[in-house]
Amino acid sequence: METRFLADDDLDAVHATFLEAFSDYVVPIAPDREQLGRMLRQRSADLASSVGAFDGGRMVGVSATGRRGDEAYVIFTGVVPASRGRRIAGAMFDRLLPALAEAGVRRLSLEVIRGNDRAVAAYRRAGFVVERDLACFTLAPADVVPADPPDGVTVTRRAAADWPSWTRFRDWAPSWQHAVPSVERTEGEVVLLEAVEGERAVGAAAVLVDGAVLAGLAVAAEARRRGIGSALLAAAAAEVETLRILNVDASSVADAAFYPARGARPLLVQHEMARRV
Ligand SMILES: CC(C)(COP(=O)(O)OP(=O)(O)OC[C@H]1O[C@@H](n2cnc3c(N)ncnc32)[C@H](O)[C@@H]1OP(=O)(O)O)[C@@H](O)C(=O)NCCC(=O)NCCS
Repeated sequence: METRFLADDDLDAVHATFLEAFSDYVVPIAPDREQLGRMLRQRSADLASSVGAFDGGRMVGVSATGRRGDEAYVIFTGVVPASRGRRIAGAMFDRLLPALAEAGVRRLSLEVIRGNDRAVAAYRRAGFVVERDLACFTLAPADVVPADPPDGVTVTRRAAADWPSWTRFRDWAPSWQHAVPSVERTEGEVVLLEAVEGERAVGAAAVLVDGAVLAGLAVAAEARRRGIGSALLAAAAAEVETLRILNVDASSVADAAFYPARGARPLLVQHEMARRV
């Protein structure tokens, strides 16, 4: 088995390896080649910092890396079922980490579904520690609690170009896939909803329509507990079939109470893990 960094020519093999490695994953995930490409671009993938593991010339493992300034992110790591148990993930990190250090990267993070013990163990062996938990929910149309905004507040759809407004009100940093550069790089439609009172924005939400993902929803601290979050969530849910609310900081008491109170059902919890490079 050998590891090496990747190039554009490897993308077909990356796709095939991804499908095989995630064929028995907890959550069904089988993107076509174009969807995988979009995911990689949205998360700032750098193929030259991404590693493949090869056995007799065939790719049996892949670890895709996103890069933004001095931070890097493991977009996915997968090893095909027949090659598991041989510390291939560790070998890919052994290849990756010195190169990232050389390139001035200081932190490498990733997300892993809680309960995926083999993956968590592999990441711990590679020096990662859990920094926070991220809760995920689904909100089906039948479970949406209808909610108008309070008197004097309107919720309007804004051009996606105005999206940064939703970042002003947040208490906690989004995960890599919903950070500002990810939303900016999203190739499908992004809907920004804004709650306005008088002339002032008091809350906002962003929906990534392809994938039906709520990328962010926050209300100005002084405007909370008046039903503005509920109105934004109901409006966000109306944009798609079943809304997926992904990567909500589980330590936020307000968010942890809010989503279930508004009809969302818990889907799973992810660990956000990170290590210094
Ligand atoms: C979660 C959040 C959006 C809720 O907004 P909000 O406008 O206060 O929500 P609502 O007034 O519509 O609350 C609806 C229900 O949620 C629950 N809830 C909301 N905040 C709560 C809190 N702090 N404690 C307990 N329950 C809460 C309640 O059941 C509430 O109904 P009630 O007020 O009748 O009891 C808001 O607290 C927030 O912006 N948090 C930070 C989000 C963030 O930083 N995101 C980062 C990525 S963008």
